[in-house]
Amino acid sequence: MASNGSATVRELVVEAAAAINRSRSIDHWQPSLARYDAEELMSEALGEPLTPEARRSRLAAAQRRRFATMVARRIAGEPVAQIAGHFLFRGLDLRVRRGVFVPRVSSELLADEAIRAVRRRRNRRVAVDVATGTGPVALAVAHEVKDGDVWGVDISATAIALCRDNARRLGIGNVHFRVSDMLDALPSDMRGAVDVMTIHPPYVARGDLRILPREIRDFEPLHSLTDGSDDGLGLVRRLAADAHAWLRPGGVLLVEIGTYLSRKTQATLRHAGLADVAWTRDALGVTRVISGRRPR
Ligand SMILES: C[S@@+](CC[C@H](N)C(=O)[O-])C[C@H]1O[C@@H](n2cnc3c(N)ncnc32)[C@H](O)[C@@H]1O
Repeated sequence: MASNGSATVRELVVEAAAAINRSRSIDHWQPSLARYDAEELMSEALGEPLTPEARRSRLAAAQRRRFATMVARRIAGEPVAQIAGHFLFRGLDLRVRRGVFVPRVSSELLADEAIRAVRRRRNRRVAVDVATGTGPVALAVAHEVKDGDVWGVDISATAIALCRDNARRLGIGNVHFRVSDMLDALPSDMRGAVDVMTIHPPYVARGDLRILPREIRDFEPLHSLTDGSDDGLGLVRRLAADAHAWLRPGGVLLVEIGTYLSRKTQATLRHAGLADVAWTRDALGVTRVISGRRPR
């Protein structure tokens, strides 16, 4: 970045946003995202929120260098959460690291649907988040449903170590994490006893990997992007087929999926014998959550 030491924080943010906007490693699907990234990174460099007063201030030399380094990393495609090392999800400050899928704000819809579905259940409230990553959905459900018994599973041992670390740091005790290929490592006495199952699967079709922007292709682990199937729904089919055996009668499966896979996912859930198949979407219309219920 070219700015000299006399530039204000506000000016540095504007300059950084323009530079981020020019990066070809980033998917600029919304015009305001570069500005948002620059503000996040500035807040990290300052070590405090960007108040109006902070925007009028000037950075110390060390802060300016730190900010410039972080902006250069972002321009190369590294996600802001990986640069910062943490991500705020439904008010939970989650630790994030390279090698584990970075949580997305869009998954708050899945957490929201899961929390509402778990709260509707009586007696023990058991929830399982499959392919949990850093554990945002499992941790949010456990945090917001204190009498819930929540499980998170992921095939990646690195991810599960991070989930456990996040749970410990946040003081969330009603959540258990297991390294598991789908449901394989869950205790067998949970069969037929799960109220709500969630999944945000790796749903990029094998053939679409090469068209992903660098910020995703180069910075997220491959197994968090694709299950290697031709249509991206390999894990959804596996989970839907198992749903009957693991859900309680009336229990719900919730699948977060890209809009373009919505219809096919609904058909998959119906084909697996789930009832009341429906969908909901986030305000931007980018993400859909498909739901299906085990008949009573
Ligand atoms: C798109 S990420 C979602 C992570 C997290 N749920 C979130 O929303 O941030 C998909 C996750 O699926 C996991 N995964 C891939 N194959 C799996 C399998 N066979 N069994 C369990 N988890 C798997 C990956 O390790 C990755 O963490």
